Amino acid sequence: MSFMLLLFGATGDLARRKLIPALYSLYLKGTINENTPIVGLARAERSREDFLRSLDLKNILVRDEGLEAFEDLICYYSMDLREAPDPDLAEFLKEVDSSHRCRGNKIFYLSLSPRYFAEAIDAIGSGGLMEGEGWKRLVVEKPFGYDLNSAKILNEKISAVFGEEDIYRVDHYLGKDLVQSILAFRFANAVFEEIWNHRFVDNVQITLAETIGVGSRAGYFDGVGTVRDMIQNHLLQVLALVAMEPPRSLEPDDIRFGKIEVLRSLLDVGEEDIVVGQYARGEVEGEKVGAYLEEPGVPEGSNTETYASLEIHLDSDRFRGVPFYVRTGKRLTRKCSEVSLVLKEVAWNLYGGGGRKPPENVVTLRIEPHEGISIKFNTKVPGPGSSLKPVTLNFCHRCEFGLESPQAYELLLQGVITADQTLFTRWEGVEASWRFVDGIMGKIRSRGEVLRYPAGSMGPAEADQMLENYGRRWILAEEVLD
Ligand code: BG6
Repeated sequence: MSFMLLLFGATGDLARRKLIPALYSLYLKGTINENTPIVGLARAERSREDFLRSLDLKNILVRDEGLEAFEDLICYYSMDLREAPDPDLAEFLKEVDSSHRCRGNKIFYLSLSPRYFAEAIDAIGSGGLMEGEGWKRLVVEKPFGYDLNSAKILNEKISAVFGEEDIYRVDHYLGKDLVQSILAFRFANAVFEEIWNHRFVDNVQITLAETIGVGSRAGYFDGVGTVRDMIQNHLLQVLALVAMEPPRSLEPDDIRFGKIEVLRSLLDVGEEDIVVGQYARGEVEGEKVGAYLEEPGVPEGSNTETYASLEIHLDSDRFRGVPFYVRTGKRLTRKCSEVSLVLKEVAWNLYGGGGRKPPENVVTLRIEPHEGISIKFNTKVPGPGSSLKPVTLNFCHRCEFGLESPQAYELLLQGVITADQTLFTRWEGVEASWRFVDGIMGKIRSRGEVLRYPAGSMGPAEADQMLENYGRRWILAEEVLD
């Protein structure tokens, strides 16, 4: 492979913690080599040596094999995106290109605050960086806009410089092993695919729970909130993979259009089916933690939601009438991302007796932790009588495939390098998700104050009530695994 990677926002956290380690891993595998220089771009005036020192790779990487040779691929150029495109940059890049024989191929990676996306596109388009032979690809981190309107403006800006096939919109959840496995579980197994519809499924639950608070990210998060930060992208992408029809093939666009169809089929969410909250003081994993309003940089009286749960319905033959209960939040009891399909009761309730029902069957895909699948079903307790006991069949992904599976960012970068768009979102998908989320945000805004929930809980009690109203309850893999 010969190409140059231009990393905008090279001094940022994402570059240091995720992208550079992923590139190192690709270097160890030979995917990148002496023909693939990495050019760090950021505002700070720094020498290349200072930049390398600031990356502190020895402490960040688990290994240091070949580290010096890897560092030789990295250079640094200081530029201020708020100023007019710098004519010297194109010259500098020409030299890097010819000394590494990149043949004009370029990957532009925007690992920046979204505030500077437009300026970065200007620097690329008007700064002469698209000129010359070779392919040019653009990688854009989330958030892709703040709402439908801003996303459209951003997309138009980008599309004036890059074609859709060269735009890689990152959603790092799509790089997670278990998210990638959803289609295989569904479409390579009759045992799952046959029941994956409204005839057998009572409800679907998606939980993306975090224990961390907003930390030092209030500058970005406040005013954005959890619905835009997590539901518009990660959660809806997972939902789309769970709900989509079988794609015609595994070609990237067959999968991506399959997901877009789901996103376009999302029905408006009713006012009573939205619960949003903000964490108050509490205790998470044995530690006392402050409220959202006490986090550095959060404005007094902020109403930004740090938790959201919704009941979503789809206009689809497969899942007509099946509620998708989704929830995500910060400062919750535990960190876990998972999907559960709760199955309908069997038609003949032989074992119910006295109005009792046998416990429901649940299929759970654990995205993390404990990646894998569990199926909860009932068995007869040995001895006389007919009492039932729920038991769990558990597939542990790591036990089968080991701990060494590639990190999400490695797979995402690999996708960009090999021009495989499977793990990236198309504009039509982004557009459909923002349209859906704008509707929800409008309802949240008109409500005024958000509910409070204690840090360390699983969110406001109203979210439990939302399911209890229909005789249902939230499922967590932990209890399925017990
Ligand atoms: C990011 C959000 O996209 O995803 C963060 O901006 C969130 O707020 C993070 O913490 C969660 O990702 P993961 O992989 O830790 O579940």
